Amino acid sequence: MASVFEYAPAPESRAVVDIAPSYGLFIDGEFTEAAGGKVFKTVSPSTEEVLAEVAQASAEDIDRAVKAARKAFGKWSALPGTERAKYLFRIARIIQERSRELAVLETLDNGKPIRETRDTDLPLVAAHFFYYAGWADKLGHAGLGADPRPLGVAGQIIPWNFPLLMLAWKIAPALATGNTVVLKPAETTPLSALFFADICRQAGLPKGVVNIVTGDGGTGAALVSHPDIDKIAFTGSTAVGKAIAREIAGTDKRATLELGGKGANIVFDDAPVDQAVEGIVTGIFFNQGQVCCAGSRLLVQESVHDEVLESLKRRLSTLRVGDPLDKNTDLGAINSAEQLARITALAETGEAEGAERWSPACDLPSSGYWFAPTLFTNVTQAHTIARDEIFGPVLSVLTFRTPEEAVAKANNTQYGLSAGIWTEKGSRILAVAARLRAGVVWANTFNKFDPTSPFGGYKESGYGREGGRHGLEAYLAPSSPEGER
Ligand code: NAI
Ligand code: MG
Repeated sequence: MASVFEYAPAPESRAVVDIAPSYGLFIDGEFTEAAGGKVFKTVSPSTEEVLAEVAQASAEDIDRAVKAARKAFGKWSALPGTERAKYLFRIARIIQERSRELAVLETLDNGKPIRETRDTDLPLVAAHFFYYAGWADKLGHAGLGADPRPLGVAGQIIPWNFPLLMLAWKIAPALATGNTVVLKPAETTPLSALFFADICRQAGLPKGVVNIVTGDGGTGAALVSHPDIDKIAFTGSTAVGKAIAREIAGTDKRATLELGGKGANIVFDDAPVDQAVEGIVTGIFFNQGQVCCAGSRLLVQESVHDEVLESLKRRLSTLRVGDPLDKNTDLGAINSAEQLARITALAETGEAEGAERWSPACDLPSSGYWFAPTLFTNVTQAHTIARDEIFGPVLSVLTFRTPEEAVAKANNTQYGLSAGIWTEKGSRILAVAARLRAGVVWANTFNKFDPTSPFGGYKESGYGREGGRHGLEAYLAPSSPEGER
């Protein structure tokens, strides 16, 4: 069904953000060139336009950054919590003041719709800094001992799907607890982290407390293997997470790993269909499905399958795919040519293995990286698209008859990050949630985030929790008198 109205273009202005032609590394409070002088380009995935050239950090640069963080650690960790909190509150307020600029920047570098960066990413980024600022002077009341100590220097490696939000998840708790950091953003989305470096300067944060090193997987690997890192915090693919776990095995480096997922979104026959359909759409089409906790497997009770699918298809026909800077856009660009190729290949596998593919009619722009919202029905648990993380706007639909079958199918995955339950019965929510092996279970909603709520996985989705009081634990050494270095 075509949309009833045509929308006039409603583009957000690019003029609110000033992107420099090139950026260096942010080490010890200064922007500097990479030791080897190597650079790479970051592009806008919706147009393939080059946005800037960015320094590619080598092992030598990583060493400089770690040394700066180590030097800063002594004074920073010795500051009273109330003083550290002032910096974090200041950063949070600057993020709010600059949120329009940062939202446009993130949309340009990542390809996600401005509606999401403006209404979801940026408010959550600020909220994380406010939340952990509040903890900085109350660490003795976090249930981690009377005087928990910071670990030291944290190496933090983040992905491209929520660049600034993943930075906030990593940096806010680390700083609140008195650690210093070396953070590496993803190679396709380095810009918001570099703007954050400027915010650190604007906030007067002491030199070396936050260091930002840009580069690719090799840069990340150099950070992981640096001998003077006390903790690695990683969000990304399960393959790289496993490589990191192998690399640090036998050292005293701590790690939190937040990896892939294949979340089940379970719709029972008593669920309000219209609300469930909105939740299914949010679950898999938010951020073009490039979300580790996406509801990428729809488990729908057989008796309502046809009704839910009909309603879902009608809803998908109204989604607007296109210019991410347009305020009416629902789905923007896929982040990179590599990711688009991965999604395309997995969708082709779905067809080859016999699942039924459907997409609404939609015109995709001719340049940039695009993938139409896609549904697969007649999917069984043996299908690749029911097992592998696609990390794109592709939903696999399976059915079940009883709650037991729903639970068994939901848990039949190597992952364990998220799940959703749609039902009118409160007792069923509690009974089913208790049996789902997933770090987050949403009930009658999906992809809702809040800094007070811990987030993390089971099985190959990784270990450790980020967010909430639990998120402090990952950056603190409880109760050892000297503090564990
Ligand atoms: P990736 O895991 O390679 O990249 C994530 C981050 O790790 C980037 O900053 C990257 O530079 C860094 N990295 C890469 N190799 C490294 C190494 N050996 N040591 C240390 N750091 C390293 O993910 P990629 O290739 O961008 O995406 C591949 C797939 O991973 C996606 O299709 C998706 O399925 C999954 N993924 C999951 C994410 C999540 O939020 N759980 C985020 C990004 C990707
Ligand atoms: Mg980019």
